[in-house]
Amino acid sequence: MSYKRLNEINLSSKSVLLRLDLNTPIENGLVANNERIVRSLPTINYIIEAGARLIVMSHLGRPEENNLFQEEFSLSPVVKELENLLNKKIPLYSLDEFEDLSQIPELSVVENTRFRIGEKTNDTDLSKRLAKLADLFVMDAFATSHRAHASTTGVITFSVDACAGLLLDEEINALSKVKEDSKNSVAILGGAKISTKLSLINSLSNSMDKVILGGGIANTLIAAKGYDVGKSLIEESMLSEAEELLDNPKIIIPHSVIVSDSSDKPGRVTSIDSIDNNEAIFDLAPQSLTAIEPILMDAGTILWNGPLGFFEKENFDKGTMHIAKMIAASKGFSVAGGGDTISAAEKAGVLDRLDYVSTAGGAFLEFMEGNKLPAIEALENKVN
Ligand code: 3PG
Repeated sequence: MSYKRLNEINLSSKSVLLRLDLNTPIENGLVANNERIVRSLPTINYIIEAGARLIVMSHLGRPEENNLFQEEFSLSPVVKELENLLNKKIPLYSLDEFEDLSQIPELSVVENTRFRIGEKTNDTDLSKRLAKLADLFVMDAFATSHRAHASTTGVITFSVDACAGLLLDEEINALSKVKEDSKNSVAILGGAKISTKLSLINSLSNSMDKVILGGGIANTLIAAKGYDVGKSLIEESMLSEAEELLDNPKIIIPHSVIVSDSSDKPGRVTSIDSIDNNEAIFDLAPQSLTAIEPILMDAGTILWNGPLGFFEKENFDKGTMHIAKMIAASKGFSVAGGGDTISAAEKAGVLDRLDYVSTAGGAFLEFMEGNKLPAIEALENKVN
């Protein structure tokens, strides 16, 4: 990708506006998972150590866009977590308060970008206001780079200078590697709905050698193949699209599954041609895992997105846990992304053994589909 990077810019004595994605789960006023904050630290430290004054901004959740402070969506818990990690006090300002400061602090945070009217419409006036806050804009919110918002995209157009942060560049390099390295490349995709992943499946079944499907996605293909799937989660409206996928020899669906008449009861192993009317598919059976194993072990690159069964339930987590462990054990370069995927990898205890774990959900899927991400496009336009 041809955008400017941090190491091409002299940061000394500059003011820097850094857009991060610190959209993290908050429970009882505390950050419940600090992964996105921790992964943003290298860029924060790099900018501070280079002698610049740093202003951080991020969105959190989906508040009402009304220019008003909404406590539930305040970045305050995130700032507390950042204070703990950096071991320093960090002031949190509203945009108006920040603009009234006579001096820019060494490190400060500006409140939730989504409080501002015009953020989601990529409003020109708001973009210009943000661009004016500093000498340089650094985009490091890869997980929000698929949103053409004022704080991710418009601000780039109007800033004096703009570049990519370390995390954004790292994400793009890892994800591009999986997309471009074509030797024995395998995608393994799960999750509930085929409708949300159809374009991803189509695009990966062009660019990769094999696409293994599981979860609700595979259920819909099994139903499209003409099998009775009982009470399994499927998308009726997607049956004809699913049928088309069945013609693609790169696509692999399970032949052996675990079914039950209740997700609260233990399951039984069956072939996909003998599922009872009152049963639903909840997991991959050991026979399917045995069939997948050599494919994953021989893979040059592996892209993993989505759980392969109802992994939140103890009775039906074995398939996803086993897949996660096989991916971690494979010599292939493995990349995982998407919210549930990370939780599944964490549950399997292999998060540290995957080669790259993306911090993004929606942006990860869009990038892998081959879509242009507006914030990255804006960064590229800045150098052209
Ligand atoms: C995410 O969590 O995927 C990003 O922070 C984007 O959030 P959004 O879907 O609310 O735009």
